[in-house]
Formats: sequence, structure tokens, C-alpha cells
Amino acid sequence: MKPIKEVMDKLRHYTNQKPHIGLILGSGLGDLAEEIADADRIPYHSLPHFPESTVKGHKGQFVIGELEGKTVVAMQGRYHHYEGYSLAQVAFPVYVMKAMGIEKLIVTNACGGINTSFQPGDLMLINDHINMLGGSPLIGPNEDELGPRFPDMSHAYSPALIHTAKQAASTLNIHVQEGVYLATHGPQYETPAEIRMMRVMGADAVGMSTVPEVTAASHLGLDVLGISCITNMACGILDQPLSHKEVIETADRVKADFTSLIKSIIRS
Ligand code: 6GU
Repeated sequence: MKPIKEVMDKLRHYTNQKPHIGLILGSGLGDLAEEIADADRIPYHSLPHFPESTVKGHKGQFVIGELEGKTVVAMQGRYHHYEGYSLAQVAFPVYVMKAMGIEKLIVTNACGGINTSFQPGDLMLINDHINMLGGSPLIGPNEDELGPRFPDMSHAYSPALIHTAKQAASTLNIHVQEGVYLATHGPQYETPAEIRMMRVMGADAVGMSTVPEVTAASHLGLDVLGISCITNMACGILDQPLSHKEVIETADRVKADFTSLIKSIIRS
């Protein structure tokens, strides 16, 4: 695919490292990228076909280097559909990371809890998702050399990686939940009626990201691990309004657990 090739040609000017693991760091969770050693930092805006990121707190760069003895590429900041990017634009960096050489992708996000047994600050291993974005990043002509026209999504989130993550969490004495992540396009949070509908549909958590990137990863045959930080309960569960401030504050509070969990997973 020509755009991927053009990005790779440019990337060679910035790094000669070959990552095996990709990391997408969600809202408030980007600090993990600061722990990457011998890092090459490549702002998205220095690459062709990457639009400029618009949200505060989203740095918008690849950080490529060593973490826990593995070569990784982290996306510090991601694109969201609600910012006006197409789903294909949101998913494009996943194709680039695959071209860099990744075989596994760890995707993180901040999201709202729908399952009433969850609490703000919980970490949730994503075992499946529901796409309510109203579209797919794969719409359009299929690039057969990248993946199949009709990708299988039955193991979009790798059971083996969920197993690894659970073991790491138990060794570290970090409590993790497991469940289904539902993506909306946002940017408004849901109404109480929408949350009731989503609970009936089988969703445990709701957010505005992750699904485009994981759909692309399924297309590419990557093994995916998804970790959500439940930053707040979704609308109508507690009698209090939602705020982006709460999302950032909770993400800040669980950053330490989140960071040590991901590092331990990467080690193993
Ligand atoms: Cl409650 N909904 C959505 N769509 N995204 C969120 C959220 C809720 N909380 C954090 N991110």
C-alpha cells in the first residue's frame, strides 16, 4: 500500500529499531512512554499521511525503544473519530506499526463502567467488543496483501494474552476485571437510556476509541491485548454528572498499577 510505504521510507530517517510489540496509550495513560529507554521519538506530524492531533493531553508521537528488554513502539496519543478523523485515519497507525514489524498490540483506553460491579479505578481486560461507531475502518477497496476482505473477529482479543495478563496481575496483586468494551463515536457521553440499552446488549464498559484500531489489527492478524481503565461510572449509574476532569483524575490515580501491569506483561 503506497501510503504505508511512504511512511516507512520517512521513518528510516528517524529510527533503525525494529519493534515487536505495539502499544497504544489512552487518555491520561501516556506516561508509560517516558519509561522507554533509548527512545526514538517521532511526532506524527513529521510523517506523511498522519493528520495533526487536536486534543489536549494527547502528545501525538511514536516512541520506539526498549521496555523490559523488548523493543516496542508506543503511540503516545491516538486519533479519535470524534475529532473528525475518519475511522480509516484512526486505524492507519496500526498498519504502520505492523509494517515496522510488530506481532502483538497492546491497546489501552479510559472508559466508563456499565457493569455495576465495577468501580472507578478498576482495570478491565477486554475480552470482546461491540462496534457502535456507525462504520468500519475497513470500508473501501480491500488491500489483499494486508489482510482478508472479510476478517474473522472471533478472537479479536487474544485469549492467550488475556491469560498472560491475568497471571501478571495476580503476581502483582492487582485486581483486574474482564469484560466487553462498547465503542460509541461520541463526543457526547451517553444518556441514561443509552446506558440501559448497552447493558442489555452485553456491554461492561463504554468508550470512544480502541475498536477502530482493533478492527484493523484483526484485519492484519495481530494478537491483541486490550486494557481499559474504568475512570468513572457511565451515565445514570450514579446520580452525578460526568466530567472529562474525573476521567483524567482517575487515570492519574491508577497510573502506577497500570504501568507495572503492562511492564510485567511485556516482560513475559
Ligand atoms: Cl461514560 N462514555 C464514553 N463513551 N466514553 C467514556 C466514558 C463514558 N467515560 C470515559 N470515557
